[in-house]
Amino acid sequence: MTRRATSQPRRLGPSRLDLSVRLGSLQLRNPVMIASGLAGYGDELEGIVNLGKIGAVVTKTLTLNAREGNAPPRLAEAHSGLMNSIGLANVGCQAFISRRLRHLKALKTKIVVSVGGFSEREYGEIVLRLEDAGGFDGFEINISCPNVKEAGMSFGCSPAGAAGVVRAVRPKTSRSIIVKLTPNVTDIALIARACVSEGADALTVGNTFKALAVDVQTRRPLLGGGTGGLSGPAIKVLSLAKVWEVVSAVSVPVIACGGICCSNDALEFIVVGATALQVGSACLRNLRTPELVLAGIEEYCRNNRVRSLAEMRGTVKSPEL
Ligand SMILES: Cc1cc2nc3c(=O)[nH]c(=O)nc-3n(C[C@H](O)[C@H](O)[C@H](O)COP(=O)(O)O)c2cc1C
Repeated sequence: MTRRATSQPRRLGPSRLDLSVRLGSLQLRNPVMIASGLAGYGDELEGIVNLGKIGAVVTKTLTLNAREGNAPPRLAEAHSGLMNSIGLANVGCQAFISRRLRHLKALKTKIVVSVGGFSEREYGEIVLRLEDAGGFDGFEINISCPNVKEAGMSFGCSPAGAAGVVRAVRPKTSRSIIVKLTPNVTDIALIARACVSEGADALTVGNTFKALAVDVQTRRPLLGGGTGGLSGPAIKVLSLAKVWEVVSAVSVPVIACGGICCSNDALEFIVVGATALQVGSACLRNLRTPELVLAGIEEYCRNNRVRSLAEMRGTVKSPEL
């Protein structure tokens, strides 16, 4: 007589794993996105990255008019991180529509267009123009850029400012509106709630942390813009805390962004409560990082018989006191 061996839990078969996620009306095949500013306008990555594997690409932030950005140098290294002071350099909304948008339609991934502005009216105007043009999948409203004065982050630092921007864009589109929050605030939950109350479908948490690097020889800031934004591995644990605060405050999906370099980083954010993830600076080290993050998530799920990320999302336990 043969006895069935007491078997190890078997790996989950590939067909039984569903990593798709929903961000408002935007459905992604998997939760891994490329963060704004690291993929240009999306088309630059074609043929370099297997976009067919990525959940979505977020474009460089577009403003109404083209911007040169801040004076160089715009990048500086920090311990375990990268500082940037790009200052929203971009081709402007109209040039994007006439020259870039057409190519994006052919890409085998979802395209989220990032929008920035200097007034509520400007945010509304860009969304309206893009909406008329069509050919993309959702909006990320950037109210969190630390590198431009009187734009971006100034809206994201107060509940009233954040709410005003979402109020200006919400009636202009039925596409998903994702609002990208700044971590550079004392109470991010207040800002998150203000955005959701005006109709945000999802929140990205978050952008870079405001930072300063100084050259002791010249006694000047290293970056042309003075201060910059810190990203990369140095900010992962800070971002985790911000994501935790936001998922506890709102019920819309939260997209984690900040320091994700590998699948284990990504899984930490999911356990804390994130629905999707954006990979930023890690793409500068290896453009295939988003694909590797996805492969690692799949591997974890198969080995642990997790069929969908909903089974893991927000399962972080309270600390034992
Ligand atoms: C070179 C560079 C350019 C960026 N440009 C933008 C941008 O245009 N709009 C935006 O919302 N975030 C921008 N970011 C911020 C990233 O999207 C991301 O929020 C941040 O870098 C934190 O993620 P990370 O630690 O994975 O890089 C930029 C970041 C870098 C490093």
